[in-house]
Amino acid sequence: MALSLISKCVLLLCASVALAAKKPNILFILTDDQDWHMQSMQHMPFLQKYLLHEGTLYANHYCTVALCCPSRVNLWTGRAAHNTNVTDVFPPYGGYPKVVREGINDDYLPVWMQEAGYNTYYSGKLWNAHTVDNYNSPRAGGYNGSDFILDPYTYEYYNAYMSRNGAPPVSYKGQYSPDITAQKAYGFLEEATQHKEPWFLTVAPIAPHGNIVLEPADMYEADMPRYASRHAHLFKDYKIPRDANFNPEKQGGVAWIKNLPRLNDTVIAYNDEYQRARLRALQSVDEMVETLVKMLEEKDLLKDTYIFYTTDNGYHISQHRMHPGKECGFDTDIHIPLIVRGPGVAAGRVSEAVTAHTDLSPTIMSLAGQSRDDFDGVAIPLEYDKEDTEIAQTRHEHVNVEYWGMAIPEGLYGRYGNAGSDIGFKFAVRNNTYKGLRLIGDDYSLYYAVWCTGDKEYYDVKLDNYFDDSSLHSSYSIADRPFKHIVNRLDALMMVLKSCKGLQCTDPWGVLHPHGGIKTLKDALTSKFDAFYQGQPKVQFDACELGYIREAEGPQQVNVFGDDGAHFDLRSQPSFKYQGHWSLWT
Ligand SMILES: *[C@@H]1O[C@H](CO)[C@@H](O)[C@H](O)[C@H]1NC(C)=O
Ligand SMILES: *[C@@H]1O[C@H](CO)[C@@H](O)[C@H](O)[C@H]1NC(C)=O
Ligand SMILES: *[C@@H]1O[C@H](CO)[C@@H](O)[C@H](O)[C@H]1NC(C)=O
Ligand SMILES: *[C@@H]1O[C@H](CO)[C@@H](O)[C@H](O)[C@H]1NC(C)=O
Repeated sequence: MALSLISKCVLLLCASVALAAKKPNILFILTDDQDWHMQSMQHMPFLQKYLLHEGTLYANHYCTVALCCPSRVNLWTGRAAHNTNVTDVFPPYGGYPKVVREGINDDYLPVWMQEAGYNTYYSGKLWNAHTVDNYNSPRAGGYNGSDFILDPYTYEYYNAYMSRNGAPPVSYKGQYSPDITAQKAYGFLEEATQHKEPWFLTVAPIAPHGNIVLEPADMYEADMPRYASRHAHLFKDYKIPRDANFNPEKQGGVAWIKNLPRLNDTVIAYNDEYQRARLRALQSVDEMVETLVKMLEEKDLLKDTYIFYTTDNGYHISQHRMHPGKECGFDTDIHIPLIVRGPGVAAGRVSEAVTAHTDLSPTIMSLAGQSRDDFDGVAIPLEYDKEDTEIAQTRHEHVNVEYWGMAIPEGLYGRYGNAGSDIGFKFAVRNNTYKGLRLIGDDYSLYYAVWCTGDKEYYDVKLDNYFDDSSLHSSYSIADRPFKHIVNRLDALMMVLKSCKGLQCTDPWGVLHPHGGIKTLKDALTSKFDAFYQGQPKVQFDACELGYIREAEGPQQVNVFGDDGAHFDLRSQPSFKYQGHWSLWT
């Protein structure tokens, strides 16, 4: 009797040790172009029920490049786009061939997860320019099981081509792409749970991206997404929220955006229907969320599994007079959903931590008990108590936003410009290259950007008034410091962030103030630093390039603050030229 009790205890102990050693599973759901600001999440009842109510919503989560492929590279590497140099959807600056050329296909999250002992699976769209021709040369790295949606058919909802585990592409003509992606994910989940190792499964349906026909090139057509017929009756009365930015009477903004004409009623009606179509397309994703959670529940795996839900970038439709699309620095395009559910993650909570896609690979690696020293982001603390402590100690206020190249309008009416046929998108706008900085502190919420055209913009997200330049300069302040001193700080911060690597990216104030003490804009606004910030090299461009051409991007060095209050050059202090204008608008 006594003996059997002891052996039971020993067995129990062994069981709990084995359990502790087992790494958690990761289910990652990645939608395509899903908005926060038109409230798409509110129209997904299963997302609400199974993820928002049972997990934590990260309410200040951002992508750093508002375009699919660069954003996904940022997400799956934990490195800023200026360090991956994948900045576009197609070669020469982006797409799968560029991913391969930059060595990323052999050196990104799924590969590292396999090295950490995980079996890895992927269903859906991985990259752009991952095609029916190049899918096997080389094969996408890092996956034990994969079924990839391939170009040029990626955005044709009823004409998908997919390659399973490197086999020749199979046509799914007539079937609904997000439903196929879901079915394949269920299969991979079954497969993953046959093995003893932990697993990392990503599901990346194309919803709610627009339906785009890329081939043949003269047939190029971008229209609203298609949906499954079972969802056709939904959202008949829905309209895009008419907020202050919706097709405004008074247009703000800089560069190509400031001259956009107001959208007429025909376009507004089309755009409302466009968002209805997106919401319908998302219903398939919503059903998939329920099925996946129920499968985990039936297998008793919810307690061992983290579920991430996010998207690659946001989306605008009619805001700032724009046709459907992304690629801008407005919150519509960069502020995106992130929900995490899993062991130790508080249910129904909203976290205010400032987080970015750069932080997700570090987060997932840390769940796998791993870290790397080439990350430009930092793991997001998922446990509530831990987060409170860690936010206070280490979380920062900033998101580093960057963009190179074009703005590509979508939708039937979206034809802004004439970028020239040499770059494939005749109706795109060139000169959409900019550096952005999103800053969220206790008392402020700001967006600052410097464009390749010489324009600069400053946007106070908390204010709902439009200020013209003169009112801005005279009356605006943060921490009782006037506008010019605020902007000098933001510019210096951006100087660091646009070229940062590793810890410089998470503690950029520490680069400017190596002796410490400065963690926030408010800290830096102290008047004793005025001369130091006034004398910094400024962010500037010499030309509008379509990719990351460093020579076109002005000074690359900052001054650092010395012990005695003097400042000194890191290398040389370049002269700066500035011909832009200010605008403050909401
Ligand atoms: C998954 O792939 C990794 C890397 O090739 C390999 O070590 C592992 O054994 C594979 N797992 C299974 C279940 O085949
Ligand atoms: C509305 O604007 C679109 C896009 O510019 C244009 O094609 C259309 O003709 C306009 N419709 C009317 C009624 O003005
Ligand atoms: C892009 O900006 C440059 C100035 O940097 C200007 O000369 C050129 O005309 C612009 N191109 C377009 C298509 O707007
Ligand atoms: C980024 O890639 C482009 C295209 O390959 C190349 O021309 C450019 O020099 C690269 N930029 C940097 C900073 O390495």
